[in-house]
Amino acid sequence: MKPETDILPIGPLMIEHRLIERVVTLLEKELARIREGNQVNAFFLTSAIDFFKVYADRCHHGKEEDIFFDDLQKKMLSPEDKTMIENLKQDHVRSRELVGKLAGDVQESSRQPNAEISKTIAADIEDLVKLYKVHIGKEDKEFFIPVMKYLSKEEQDGMLCRFWEFDRLLIHEKYKNIVAQFEA
Ligand SMILES: [Fe+2]
Ligand SMILES: [Fe+2]
Repeated sequence: MKPETDILPIGPLMIEHRLIERVVTLLEKELARIREGNQVNAFFLTSAIDFFKVYADRCHHGKEEDIFFDDLQKKMLSPEDKTMIENLKQDHVRSRELVGKLAGDVQESSRQPNAEISKTIAADIEDLVKLYKVHIGKEDKEFFIPVMKYLSKEEQDGMLCRFWEFDRLLIHEKYKNIVAQFEA
């Protein structure tokens, strides 16, 4: 299927950034609440962790790494752009680590809530918020638009189609995994 608009492939990625930012804002509110001495909101944090694992990482970083960065790396990139891709991929690795740590700490807090684990969770959230703000800033303001020059219009349109196909398969992947986990 050919796209019928002049949407750049970075368009959907930037729209996804806006949703991630909304969750980052909610996390900042939760961080402030915890630091005011309130109990950790495990219900919200569990949903936020699922959002970062499935939407931010699998769906968003997935399209960036498996399609966008991968196609760019087949081009004659400037040394700066090559370095930037490695830097952005490293951020993705770090974000996975931070989300994993937050998930473990939220679980521990659910088993045995105490001031120490709340403090640790607050620090986890702070690290994650900082990382995403800087990461999205780099992609939106320094990288996405300038690297479009490496791709022809046809390549950009093809990439957009592959993004759609990637997204289409994700919902099936998510729920197949959930069913398989229960069966195991
Ligand atoms: Fe990214
Ligand atoms: Fe991104």
